[in-house]
Amino acid sequence: MTKLLEVKGLTRRFGGLVAVNNVSFGLDAGHITALIGPNGAGKTTCFNLVTGALKISSGKVFFEGRSIENSPPENICRMGIARTFQIVRPMRDMTVLENAMVGAFSWTKNVGEARATAYESLESVGLASKANATTDQLTLPDRKMLEAAKALSTRPKLLLLDEVMAGLRPTEAAGVVRVLQRLAEKGLTILLVEHVMRIIMEVASTVVVLHHGAKIAEGSPKDVVSDPKVLEGYLGTGFHG
Ligand SMILES: Nc1ncnc2c1ncn2[C@@H]1O[C@H](COP(=O)(O)OP(=O)(O)OP(=O)(O)O)[C@@H](O)[C@H]1O
Ligand SMILES: [Mg+2]
Repeated sequence: MTKLLEVKGLTRRFGGLVAVNNVSFGLDAGHITALIGPNGAGKTTCFNLVTGALKISSGKVFFEGRSIENSPPENICRMGIARTFQIVRPMRDMTVLENAMVGAFSWTKNVGEARATAYESLESVGLASKANATTDQLTLPDRKMLEAAKALSTRPKLLLLDEVMAGLRPTEAAGVVRVLQRLAEKGLTILLVEHVMRIIMEVASTVVVLHHGAKIAEGSPKDVVSDPKVLEGYLGTGFHG
């Protein structure tokens, strides 16, 4: 299968710390891949390297076969890679729709076009009915989905989601899972950082496991949860699928 994104030997050092250590993986187009690992494993740093927010120490990143490492973030965004941030930060003096429009201004200066795209993004995450609300009226799950809508307004081919379900109740997370499944069905490729194994088992076709910056396992969710290295390094002995 064609890989939409391929990272090869991705490495990032912070002084003496190797936050991401020689990591290689590929993402199948139209699939949801989960990037998992304990706190500090290097997941967010991987996102920062792929999106150009941080410079790579060594390694290669290919998107649609093109080498993109160390391209400026705005170019990488225009090529079709968008991300959400672990900490949600909507702009408070703007409406939900206006927040979602911000992403569209990465590719258009036309306000009408940006508004139409933002509205579509809000529809695809179930927030269209709140388009005119202010962001302080939103619940946590809605704020998380607004971050996704902002990213979708850039019209990405690949969406990187950093803990979009953290802090949500199981029923709220289930709603987000359905949104992600619908987006993938429409052809979007998703790389998801997520801690809850039950959610990973449900949505991900492939799981990449990081530990201390290095990849320790990769495979189907079923294979990964029964991998002894993953059980030792991450899930612990108390894990029961
Ligand atoms: N800008 C930075 N400067 C120095 N060290 C950093 C920087 N960013 C991340 N690190 C370190 O790199 C390591 C990996 O951090 P990262 O944020 O990528 O982990 P993570 O897997 O996303 O963890 P979490 O699950 O807690 O979000 C950590 O030890 C972190 O302290
Ligand atoms: Mg993180």
